Formats: sequence, C-alpha cells, structure tokens
Amino acid sequence: MILDRTKYRSHTIAQAEQEAPGRPLRVVGWIESYRDHGGVLFFHLRDASGKIQVVANQGDFSPENWQIIESIRPEWVVGFAGSLRRRPPGSERTSLDNKDIEILADDLGVLAKAPMLPFRPADSATVAEEVRLRHRYLDLRGPRLQHNLRLRAKFIRHLREFLESEDFCEVETPILGKSTPEGARDYLVPSRIHAGQFYALPQSPQLFKQLLMVSGFDRYFQIVKCFRDEDLRADRQPEFTQIDVETSFLEQDELLTIMEGLTAAVIREIMGVTISLPLPRLTYADVMSRYGSDKPDTRFGLELRDVSDVVKASEFGVFRDAVAAGGSVRAICATGQFSRKQTDELGELVKIYGAKGLISLKVEAAGLSGGAAKFLSDQEKINLAQTMEAKPGDVLFLIAGSNKVACDALGALRLRLGADLKLIDKTRQNLLWVVDFPLLEWHEEDQRYYAMHHPFTSPKEEDIPLLDAEPGKVRANAYDLVWNGSEVGGGSIRIHRADLQSKMFQALGIGPEEAREKFGFLLDALSYGTPPHGGIAFGLDRMIMLLTGAPSIRDVIAFPKTAKAACLMTSSPSAVSTAQLDELHIRLKE
Ligand code: AMO
Repeated sequence: MILDRTKYRSHTIAQAEQEAPGRPLRVVGWIESYRDHGGVLFFHLRDASGKIQVVANQGDFSPENWQIIESIRPEWVVGFAGSLRRRPPGSERTSLDNKDIEILADDLGVLAKAPMLPFRPADSATVAEEVRLRHRYLDLRGPRLQHNLRLRAKFIRHLREFLESEDFCEVETPILGKSTPEGARDYLVPSRIHAGQFYALPQSPQLFKQLLMVSGFDRYFQIVKCFRDEDLRADRQPEFTQIDVETSFLEQDELLTIMEGLTAAVIREIMGVTISLPLPRLTYADVMSRYGSDKPDTRFGLELRDVSDVVKASEFGVFRDAVAAGGSVRAICATGQFSRKQTDELGELVKIYGAKGLISLKVEAAGLSGGAAKFLSDQEKINLAQTMEAKPGDVLFLIAGSNKVACDALGALRLRLGADLKLIDKTRQNLLWVVDFPLLEWHEEDQRYYAMHHPFTSPKEEDIPLLDAEPGKVRANAYDLVWNGSEVGGGSIRIHRADLQSKMFQALGIGPEEAREKFGFLLDALSYGTPPHGGIAFGLDRMIMLLTGAPSIRDVIAFPKTAKAACLMTSSPSAVSTAQLDELHIRLKE
C-alpha cells in the first residue's frame, strides 16, 4: 500500500464532497459495490459520513496495483488517493447519480479484506431478522439502522440541552440494587460475598430518584437502562432506556407543562413538526369509555358509545343481563362492507379480551338488520341508530359484558378496524396526557388491590376519604403521555406524608412489618423532611420508534434481544461453569 502511513484519510466523504474539483485527497471506507468495465473500475465507497463514486483507470496504475484493484470485493476496507472531479457528461447513471462529483483514483491501499458476507448491509431490509441479529454488526452498517441510531444520539443531545437549560441535574443511580415496586418480574444477580442473597437490576430508579428529592436536588434526570423480565412485544425489550425525571415543589400541571415543552421541543428539532401546546389532558375514565384504551390513538374516530340505556329493556337476554349485572352494552359504528369471514375474525379478536361474542347490525335505509335485530323493537332500533349517529351503509358492532370487558374488547376492535379500513392518518402526530388514573387495581386472582402505578403514587386530595370504604374509586395524581396510541411516558406526584403512606400500605394489604422490610430505608428517609415531589419516566426507545417510524423496538437499539430475550450474536443467556456457580453458592435444579 502506497498511501501516506501517518494518516488514513485527508477527508471524510462528506468533507470531500464540499471540496472544489481538482483537489487531491485521500478517503477511506467500505466498498459497497463495484463495476468492472474492462480497464475502468467503478467503486461505491462508503464511510460514516456518506458515499461517493471512485473511478480507477488501468492506465493510472502499475500492473501490481491494478491486480490488487481488480481483486477488491464488497465490504473490504479500502483507502483511495486521487483527486476530486466533476463526473464527465453522459457518464453512466448509478445509484449515486444525484451526485455530480467523483474521485479519480491514482493510488490505493487495502486495509482489510472480507469473505462473502451473509447479506449485503444495504439490502438488510429484505433479510430475515434472525440472520440480521446474528450478524448485528453488519446489519448496523446498513442505512436504516445507521439513520435510526444517529437520530437516537441527536435526540439525546437535544434532550440533555433542554433539561440542563431547565436546571435539571443528571445523577446516576445503582444498577445492582434492591427490587423496586414497578410490578414486573425482576432480573436477579446472585451475590458472591453474601451467600444466598441477590441484587435486583432496577426496573426503574424510582426509589433512588425520590431519595434525591429528599437530598435537595430539586430537579433530577437520568438517561438510564431499566430491566424487566416480562413478556416481550414489538415495543418492549427486557432492557430498555428511560429518560427518568423527578422534581420538587411542582404541582402536577406545572410538571406536565415542562415535560410537554420538552417533548414538543425535541419533536420540532428532529421531525420539524410543531406540536401545539398545551397538550390535551383527557381523564382515564373518559378515554376508557371513548376509546376503550388508556393509550388512545386519536388519529381516527370510531369512538365507542355506551348504548346500555337504549337496549337494557330489550328482549335480548345478552343485553339485558349484562346491564342488570352492573356491566354495559357498548358499540362502534363503522362504514364499510364486512364479509362473513371478516366478522368471524373480528369475533375471534374480541374473545381474546374476554367478550363472549360480537354482535353486528347492518344499517340500511329500512332500519337495522342482522341476527340480533329481531330481538329489538322498532323504537329500540331507531334509538340505537340515532345514538350511534349511524347512516345507511354503516355497520354497528356491539359488545355486552362487564364494563372492563366491553371497553377492552371494543378498544381492540377499534384499533383493528382503524387499520383495516385505513382510517389512521399516518401524517399526524397526536400527543395527549391521560390523567386521573385509578390509584388501585383489583386483582381477581389474589382477591386484593394492587397499586396501578406504584405504592408511592399520591391519591387525589379530594378522594382520600374514599380510601377506606371504596378504594377502587380513588383517583391518583398519575399521568401517562400517549403519542399516536403508544404509551411513551408515565409518572405521578408522590406521597410525601408518612400518615398517608401508611394508609396507602393499608389499602394495599401491606402490613407495617412488610412495609418496613421492603421499603424501610425509604420510609426513614421520607421522615427526615421530604419536599412535595413528583416525576415521570419516558420510554426513550419508544420515542425513537415514533420519531423514525420504526415498526419494532429492535430497530432503534444497537444490540437488542429477540422476543425470547436472547442475543443471537453473543448467544446470551448462556450456561456458566460449575466453578462460577460454586463461587455464587448456587446449585442448579435437575
Ligand atoms: P413506567 O413503568 O410507566 O414508569 O415506565 C415508563 C415508560 O417506560 C417505557 N417502558 C418500556 N419501554 C420498552 N420496553 C419495556 N419493557 C418498557 N417498560 C416500560 C414506557 C413507559 O411509559 N418509575 C416509573 C416512572 C415514574 O413514576 O416516574 C416508571 O418506570 O414508555
């Protein structure tokens, strides 16, 4: 190799493109492709900053060097010296055609060879994900992941700038910790020094950030890895990143104002889209009844309506019984033709959410038709069509059951219909707050209440008297940020008074001893002068998904895990040696 040994390159490709024709330079990168025109070779050279065409004429090289040039294959790392020139008029069109410059090479050096690759990084979108994950370093060479990860870095840069300008202080908290009460399963790490004892990886830095408020930090943030051993989905990873925030002396509305300002600022910086503020604040009760979801996608209508009053006295036992049992009959009105097969499929979908069945009624000029129509009086049909604002050509989908089942099932049906009927305006960015979540959630299996958010979430002042008698009705000072139907953040104002905290533990069936054992250090700390405080955590990966339009969370994380929580590249998790287990005082079950 004949290139200068003191420096690999004089220019990155992006810098080279800014230079005037005739300028001598050296560039280095990966060969994306080559074309051999007999005596002339064309290379597409790629580095982190871009791509450029390099032309080599046989006449400009010694026979030995020409032999080297001819041996170059895709994804080799090669340096070229030469000069920048305008592409000659009429030269062949290539995928870099929008560029009118190229490098005419007069020297080169091969820095690294590569065998045939399992796939071309540029084509990775068409390659099976398993193969891509096995060779993630090659996948990451492709334009899509390069774009996503660079955008992620830019996002974090803007975020830090914004938070620092608002006087937030970045503090790191431990990764080896004690189980936090976020509600998912913990990842545990055995202790070598303390036989039989375990650290838990943080599901979030929840308790530490509250302690930082006790310590007087006033405004904290951290961009932090969190770990949850839960079933994975398209927007869930076992280790994911939160933008974690906690503040003192702010009322809920003040905090939401800063946080929506932050969100709008990064969206403007990165997408160039202006989000109008303040964001809508919808109550949990409202979104559940209108959208059947606590993370409503409001880019389309198809809102749910409660039609219990219209049909509760009908001859149809399914309707009558549901309402009589304290449940409801709810409906969606959609415009479109649905084949038997389609309605059967929709029927299967709602069953997943506990619905016994899906009732569909066609709206015709003459009235409603369909299996259940015969059980409804003419007046009931008219009232139903009116309540649903239905017109001929529409179809009404009804579900009868408990309020939860009817809302959940219709909520899922709404999303499915929105997608199938192509009602979702993909150009819109709809952000909103869901507020006033219930404080507690009843779990049928264990016959007890659990904190919907976590046990330190404060109830709404005016609902505190309900804690003893009707705990299910107590609303919390808790909020989620929802963006195009995705929950991208959640938080709450915390309890900062010891008496209220004990009351909360009581409602959760956590006795004083258990509370002491689990959260003793926090309760002690809270007794030493705790400011009113509250915070939020954003799911950074989910936000990047929305900013990039990536369909999977794996597309915005450099080295993600599969849906089975494995890393195919490093083969983790993996077995460990008996010696390692012995040190950790662990014997595996047969
Ligand atoms: P929460 O549990 O709501 O709140 O989490 C905050 C946000 O983190 C994101 N998120 C996830 N992203 C990817 N994969 C996962 N497995 C995953 N789990 C959660 C979501 C969610 O909105 N300590 C509280 C916050 C607080 O009260 O301040 C907490 O962790 O976008």
